[in-house]
Amino acid sequence: MNQQSSNAQASVILTGDRPTGPLHLGHFVGSLRNRVTYQDQYRQYIMLADAQALTDNMDDIGKVHRNVVEVALDYLAVGIDPAKSTILIQSQIPELAELTFYYLNLVTVSRLERNPTVKQEIVLRGFERDIPAGFLVYPASQAADITAFKASIVPVGEDQIPMIEQCNEIVRRFNRDAGRDILVECKAIVPEVGRLPGIDGKAKMSKSLGNTINLGASADEIRAAVKQVYTDPLHLKVSDPGHIEGNVAFTYLDAFDTDKAALAEMKAHYQRGGLGDSVVKKRLEGILQELIGPIRERREELAKDKGEVLRILKEGTFKAREVAAQTMDEVRKALGLSYF
Ligand code: TRP
Repeated sequence: MNQQSSNAQASVILTGDRPTGPLHLGHFVGSLRNRVTYQDQYRQYIMLADAQALTDNMDDIGKVHRNVVEVALDYLAVGIDPAKSTILIQSQIPELAELTFYYLNLVTVSRLERNPTVKQEIVLRGFERDIPAGFLVYPASQAADITAFKASIVPVGEDQIPMIEQCNEIVRRFNRDAGRDILVECKAIVPEVGRLPGIDGKAKMSKSLGNTINLGASADEIRAAVKQVYTDPLHLKVSDPGHIEGNVAFTYLDAFDTDKAALAEMKAHYQRGGLGDSVVKKRLEGILQELIGPIRERREELAKDKGEVLRILKEGTFKAREVAAQTMDEVRKALGLSYF
């Protein structure tokens, strides 16, 4: 008997990703490795948010379609187990769209425009005045995703906290109007190790910045990426004292090196002077090869049978839809939209 069935009281977790590209080490640190832990402690739903991805990718629907299976392969390769976690495809659960439609009456346009994440993304994507309406309202759709499963825990990156706040506003308003607690408020949990910088030293590892190390990276790609990792531009000679802060090689070692004592020693040596970047990078490369190697191999194995991946997604989606339909039923009744 697995954890889910042995503990019916387990809290529900809902997480998800927009499938717009392969997942990388930033995702691994920010969410994937935590999900592998959570699946033994909670009832975990992991959503491939393809419909949300379309809100800013209508010019490239092929990309979204392709990446649903690619991201699912990443999930399975890192150890997300479909027997413990329910992996689902957002667009295949029409109840999520239906919930969104009603939630839109519980938020105002100005509130959506004030959502800091939406605001930032509008600038980032250069929408200016030409904001797709579906994009502007995606916080309501995200609230639908979360509440459909009555999730009480939503692990997200810091940038997603405004979505959780807005979700809870919708929940409180809905429950107040309904006169009883039908929807469940949720709590964001943000990973301890914050966002991973890109190999170029930019604050965020991201596909659009081209500074990632992907989970499917080949040994050669890992080697080449580590060579490019930004270190300390003032550390010119081995004998020079080096700086740790802003030094991406050490940020990565902090995130992935499990031998903390050896790492502390290496840091001290680097700061004292007498330790070259090449030694630090050699250690980093070894650790990343060891981390990514098995993920890549599992990924390649799984990718041989995409039919099996689709079967897993279909089963997860079917299971999730039953849960969403139950919530939908309660919501429709509370809104007086139940007739027969
Ligand atoms: N907005 C998330 C992202 O940008 C994806 C997402 C969609 C999500 N629905 C969600 C995350 C619900 C957590 C909960 O990647």
